[in-house]
Amino acid sequence: MKVLVVGGGGREHAICWKLAQSPKVTELYCAPGNAGIAQVAQCVPIKATDVDAMVAYAKENAVDFVMVAPDDPLALGMVDALEAAGIPAFGPRANAAIIEASKAFSKELMKKYRIPTAKYETFTDLSAALRYVEEQGAPIVVKADGLALGKGVTVAATVAEAQEALRDMMEGGKFGKSGATVVIEACMTGPEVTVLAFCDGKHVVPMLSSQDHKRAFDGDQGPNTGGMGAFCPSPHYTPALAERCMEEIFLPTVRAMEAEGRPFKGVLYFGLMLTPDGPRVVEYNARFGDPETQPLLSMLDTDLMDILEACVNGTLDQIDIRWRPGAACCVVLASGGYPVRYQSGFPISGLEEAAKAGATVFHAGTKRDENGTYLTAGGRVLGVTATAADLPEAVRNAYAAAARIHFNDVHFRHDIGQKIAAEGGN
Ligand code: GLY
Repeated sequence: MKVLVVGGGGREHAICWKLAQSPKVTELYCAPGNAGIAQVAQCVPIKATDVDAMVAYAKENAVDFVMVAPDDPLALGMVDALEAAGIPAFGPRANAAIIEASKAFSKELMKKYRIPTAKYETFTDLSAALRYVEEQGAPIVVKADGLALGKGVTVAATVAEAQEALRDMMEGGKFGKSGATVVIEACMTGPEVTVLAFCDGKHVVPMLSSQDHKRAFDGDQGPNTGGMGAFCPSPHYTPALAERCMEEIFLPTVRAMEAEGRPFKGVLYFGLMLTPDGPRVVEYNARFGDPETQPLLSMLDTDLMDILEACVNGTLDQIDIRWRPGAACCVVLASGGYPVRYQSGFPISGLEEAAKAGATVFHAGTKRDENGTYLTAGGRVLGVTATAADLPEAVRNAYAAAARIHFNDVHFRHDIGQKIAAEGGN
């Protein structure tokens, strides 16, 4: 099969790396890809959000299957456009991708179908939003309604902080149109766990549980990023909890989307909080998470292409999805100053040494110069990913490999997976 993956970050490198192992995939393309992806796929210089150009390319090159990974093209209807052109495509249609693209939609859905989540209100008027925060008090959570590169959520410790976030979004246009509507919700407490699930419109098959680290600095300090590292599985996610989440959250969500005439096919990302009152949905995403995908696909035993096809064909109940025993950890190496301001273009050394140490190094933001040297080319640069028999060892392996890689201003967190590993994680 001739397969095209849409996107160009660490998540897409992991997807291409896994698809390249499939005997079914004879030709693999990625648009736009990156320098690391070019090791396993042919990169095509089309922007991930250029729906027309992507469809035209897929048609002209007789692509058999397209895997759309990022949120923006999904919300823009890339899967709908590919299907209309007769090309099978993995990912939700725009009317289902809205579960991520509009927080107001997803909160309404949860309320209507009694899916457990935090109490909330939606606002389009700044003064009403400021008043509501005043009445509710802090801590409180402010969310931009639309897509904001994973940075549209403020967990405010004080009323003043929440109000500043509201002004930034609704008056200052911090997230453009995405912040014109906001959702304000009660702050939940408890361990966070993420569960990504394959969906075919009717059936839902959860992957291993995982957890990412969104803040820039150790100890969950600093600004929100796209994700500074992740591990899987989460020791917090017991089999009893998995059963409860399936009954109370996963199946009800997939059934709700079907009942709304928005059947969800693709990967549904459940961001969960394990509160004292039970698991609650913090957020939905309509896609593979980044960087959760890097450790997750490192643990997947089954052919990813078989799974993607089953999601599209509605036959997810007919395949057996297997995971390797043990655990995996991904440490993101970022450019110093990310997510605010950073420089790019620095040479990267030690990639081969990291691979020799047993890690898989997924590229997020890299390019190659005319001599073939890899250079930094983005905020998140690399995701150093290692597997092992248990989480503490996977964490150690990932950090040992990461220590071999160098570039100017490199920044990474030193505590990915460490708190939970120190608690005796699986
Ligand atoms: N790691 C969070 C996300 O992909 O949105």
